[in-house]
Amino acid sequence: MLDTSEAIHPDAKGQQETKSGLTLGRVTRVEVQGEALILWGERFNLAVKAINEQVMQWKVFYGNKPDWRTSAAMINRQEDGTLSAKQLKHSVTETTVLVTYGELTMNIDRQNGTFDVMQNGRKLFAMRSLLRHAEHQGDFTAQLTMESEDRLYGLGEKTGFLDKRGERYTMWNTDVYAPHVPEMEELYQSIPMMAVLRQGQAYGVFLDNPGRTVFDMRVHDDAFMIQTRTGDMDMYVYAGPDLKEVIRQYTDMTGRMPLPPKWSLGYHQSRYSYMNREEVMNLARSFREKQIPCDVIHLDIHYMTGYRVFTFDEERYPDPAGMMAELKEMGFHIVPIVDPGVKRDAKYPAYMEGIDNNYFCKYAEGQLYIGKVWPEESAFPDFTEERVRDWWGEKQSFYTELGIEGIWNDMNEPAIFNETKTMDTEIIHGNDGNRKTHGEIHNLYGMNMSQATYEGLKKELDGKRPFVLTRAGYSGIQRYAAVWTGDNRSFWEHMSMAMPMVLNLGMSGVPFSGPDIGGFAHHTSGELLTRWTQMGVFFPFARNHSAIDMVRQEPWSFGDKYENIQREYISLRYRWMPYLYHWFHEASQTGLPIMRPLVLEYPNDPETFNLCDQFLVGDSVLVAPIYRPSTEWRSVYLPEGEWYDEWTRERLEGGRHIHAHAPIEKMPLYVRAGSVRMEESLRQFAAEAIEDTSVTACVYLKGEAGSFNLNWYEDDGLTYKYEEGAYNIVSTEVEQGADSVRIQMNYKHQGFEAKRSHVSVRVIGLAEAPVEVKGAGEQLSEEALNQAANGWYWNEGNKELVVKCQDSASLLDAVVVLK
Ligand code: GLC
Repeated sequence: MLDTSEAIHPDAKGQQETKSGLTLGRVTRVEVQGEALILWGERFNLAVKAINEQVMQWKVFYGNKPDWRTSAAMINRQEDGTLSAKQLKHSVTETTVLVTYGELTMNIDRQNGTFDVMQNGRKLFAMRSLLRHAEHQGDFTAQLTMESEDRLYGLGEKTGFLDKRGERYTMWNTDVYAPHVPEMEELYQSIPMMAVLRQGQAYGVFLDNPGRTVFDMRVHDDAFMIQTRTGDMDMYVYAGPDLKEVIRQYTDMTGRMPLPPKWSLGYHQSRYSYMNREEVMNLARSFREKQIPCDVIHLDIHYMTGYRVFTFDEERYPDPAGMMAELKEMGFHIVPIVDPGVKRDAKYPAYMEGIDNNYFCKYAEGQLYIGKVWPEESAFPDFTEERVRDWWGEKQSFYTELGIEGIWNDMNEPAIFNETKTMDTEIIHGNDGNRKTHGEIHNLYGMNMSQATYEGLKKELDGKRPFVLTRAGYSGIQRYAAVWTGDNRSFWEHMSMAMPMVLNLGMSGVPFSGPDIGGFAHHTSGELLTRWTQMGVFFPFARNHSAIDMVRQEPWSFGDKYENIQREYISLRYRWMPYLYHWFHEASQTGLPIMRPLVLEYPNDPETFNLCDQFLVGDSVLVAPIYRPSTEWRSVYLPEGEWYDEWTRERLEGGRHIHAHAPIEKMPLYVRAGSVRMEESLRQFAAEAIEDTSVTACVYLKGEAGSFNLNWYEDDGLTYKYEEGAYNIVSTEVEQGADSVRIQMNYKHQGFEAKRSHVSVRVIGLAEAPVEVKGAGEQLSEEALNQAANGWYWNEGNKELVVKCQDSASLLDAVVVLK
């Protein structure tokens, strides 16, 4: 693309021509093939399957046989690569074909193959036109109708705001170093899944095509367009009927994030690059000396010998095993970067193994593909093949033998330093027997690599959970890796854009993600870094990373004032870890995001439809960052209900905007009245052994009578023993009457020995001291309560009631008497 005004020269060709195409023509024949129904058209064909009561699959295909094999996005694929389906019902007349199963009905016009989709009588959309463009086989455009009130979410990692209406995006994983601006149609991840919200209800569409595809919500007011360039148009509709159900249905099919190790929820520090052992050790010591909690240090490309993966540079990093042991002792995990490019070097074992065993990507005629990346000329493993993934998986032992439990996969679009920025689209991938060109499945490369890394680590780690971080991915990436949003910049605009980007990743089934805190390229400032850290500690993935030659970006780089604020917020993440981990577990079960746009919880409230400069963590913590310089005030939308200002403990009426004051040391933070939030004492790293191993349930009372509860999840945070029942569910039930509050805490499931010193409850929202607290022991002073096994204490200063009890099967049954 030209980057001067010449780009808009009057003689320049328009970029987005509207393509003409051919319709399917008349449906001449309807045929039942197994569970599928095939509608043979004059020019191309349509095939339909019912996956279950809420999901239908349709395929627009050319040729004489539909290929039902899905991409690697789908879990539950059968031996033959297809999904199992239900026997749908159909009826045919001269003009229509009616297809039904479960909640869904498709009414197909025999004149041209267009159709309507209904869920229990509710019209989801009409396929207004379905075109095939003559140039290429597999070049289809579908136009799906859109109502004026429809709001669009998902589509993975994209620039822009939360609601994708009026945008156009290309799905083609791309290494974008140029600033991520709204007109960037493609980034590192491609997740062709979109949820459509209408009057509080929703449906979803997913295009399973890992080649180049386009979602255009800009061209028409009343329709959005989906285009493929290769392969079939293989689509799914999810019936919902609400946003959460759409995400559940989609992640039922593309999988959910496995519960990550707790240390990966800690704070991560990175830099391109920490240049040697001394620098890393000083960094680690600084965190501990300064008492800024941190679990992970990332090693960027300089740790390797000449950027050769599976090596350590002996001069920079002599005795890596010794360094790892020392860091482990201090509570740090090291996560090294591993790129896919394997340096072309006949003396380099990894390269020769790949050559000898035919592991690398090749052209159809057998010639090896070589592309340039950091190590110059490199070969690229064909991760679409199980045998190659197994090899790559085994290679992870180089790291695990050093004590490493997490790997950072970068450049896996794959990024190549050439004009197209990636691999030749004519390369052939073996794809486990379903051979494809690179162009057909480009977007799978990063996910297949992450799969190889994840599965390899899991095998090597002997029962411990691995952590994988990836830049590129496709639908289903959540099964293998956390995602960071690539090379952003230290711009305030990029700080604010990180919110909708990560919120939509969450709405696309990817709950564990976050941006480079502070910004990667460009120079950050003390104020920007501090504001970004305040926000970033509430993102699922929290890593500070910055580029070579940029100003230093560790939390202490801008003096005490900023350091102290960052320490406070990073510490807050650690104190709230039990809450965060609970929502990670929830995401692993349901597919629902940890960091949520307000629209997910309040889908009937128009104020939330495009609200993306504030967000929820779980369902009850509301974060409203300051994302502009020299700004101390902002508008915050509090949705219906009541909300506590976490700093002042003032209870605020919701359903309105408030004006929040937030000088630099403060980020507006609210907790929903009628919720329970768990916390624990501060640790410097997730697994730090400290004396006070208690857990505290913070109960935020409502302004009126009512009841609420939380079933809090915990386990060892490290192994898979929870799969065999080694976890706890601690329930806190609160019943608020006019003159009393009853609080009961119990183990609903007790399968893990938490080795806790005690359990506490903090009651927030009482106007005055209780008359008595029945069933909670004696009223004591704060000091006396610290020493005692149980009892309660009234803090007049912040109007908080603290109840302490011993950790036993039935924890607490107390009645707080108010009058
Ligand atoms: C890419 C990555 C960045 C990394 C750099 C060097 O730009 O996105 O995070 O630091 O490569 O490895």
